[in-house]
Amino acid sequence: MQYNFDEIIDRRNTGSVKWHYNDDTIPLWVADMDFKTAQPILKAIEQVAQHGILGYTRPTAALYDSIIQWHSSRYGLLLDKQNILFSPGVVPSLALMMNVFTGAGDAVLVNDPIYTPFMTKVEQNGRTLVTSLLKEVDGKYHLNLVDIEAKIIEHKVKLYLLCNPHNPGGRVWTTDEIEALLVLCKKHDVAVVSDEIHQDLTLSGHTFTPFLKLAEAAGYAHNVVSLTSMTKTFNVAGIKGSMIFAKDNSLIKKISQQQQLNDEYELNLFAYEVMRSAYENGGGWLEQALAYIEANIDLIISFLEQHLPDIKVMRPEASYLIWLDCSAYGDDDQALYDKLRAAKVELNSGIKYGNEGHLKMRLNVACPEALLREGLNRIYEALIGGVQS
Ligand SMILES: Cc1ncc(COP(=O)(O)O)c(C=O)c1O
Repeated sequence: MQYNFDEIIDRRNTGSVKWHYNDDTIPLWVADMDFKTAQPILKAIEQVAQHGILGYTRPTAALYDSIIQWHSSRYGLLLDKQNILFSPGVVPSLALMMNVFTGAGDAVLVNDPIYTPFMTKVEQNGRTLVTSLLKEVDGKYHLNLVDIEAKIIEHKVKLYLLCNPHNPGGRVWTTDEIEALLVLCKKHDVAVVSDEIHQDLTLSGHTFTPFLKLAEAAGYAHNVVSLTSMTKTFNVAGIKGSMIFAKDNSLIKKISQQQQLNDEYELNLFAYEVMRSAYENGGGWLEQALAYIEANIDLIISFLEQHLPDIKVMRPEASYLIWLDCSAYGDDDQALYDKLRAAKVELNSGIKYGNEGHLKMRLNVACPEALLREGLNRIYEALIGGVQS
């Protein structure tokens, strides 16, 4: 089936977090897409609704099979049913992992910049946040292994929260990078939780490596968990639902016990069916969505090269979030954000992702091309004045 990603669907007055305006502001911020999801998913939802009985539901064998098949065929990550737990979201799971791997006050290491909840969940749970700046070399971020090891030793770090692929910036960590990180974590007995929610949005020319796959090969699976979801991949974030993978039986048991404390191991019936139908039959939609996103990435890069060459663009290796260095256009984060909002376009302010985000902005290109073009015109208008076409 051919999907039409050019279709503009009005999301205002639907409770959408992204489209929260009363006017015609264009949202190029929060990470959800303005594309209708895959037809097989919508059909699965309709079938559940038409069945009409929405009673207590547990994951079916078909659901487990779909997850196992998706991860083995795409990434060579071999899972058994016993390796899989369900969770309402990746962020709730990040928070849960504080109690699985650390105690009050323990140090947790994250990179900077990083998706904000990596920092807030650590602090809100009474752990000590330690950050290691990513190094920008040749237009992309790199892990600073020397700094990471020094921080691990200095703060007696117990847990490293990795974002793989990384948000913001869109790095897809290579096998070599993951292996080097594994060596360090193993050497210092640091547990790793790898948030892989952007895995399926890896763009052409790059290869996603599941952290758990290499951890198992390195004999370190007992200290590694990965978190992922169908929600980012298929644009179904409002459905809520995600997975926790661990290959070690006693680790899975520990996580499961932690989930039972608050009875938070079940998803709703729709989430299970969305997950199953997405993994069984959503591949065609995903392929087309990624092609559309890549075209939008090309579009924004050429627009900025032509009209706003002082913005430095980091081309993502995964996902649809573009990291822009806007330091040529201001010296105050809030003023930069406000200037764009005044021109009726909203981007994420980079400073929300850590110190490295100072004067950077994160722009979401997962929308119909016409919206993106208009959004870019407004950015131009805000920063330079006048209108481009
Ligand atoms: C790296 C990362 N993790 C987690 C999430 C959100 O996950 P969830 O909605 O499952 O809590 C996002 C959303 O943007 C994200 O970028």
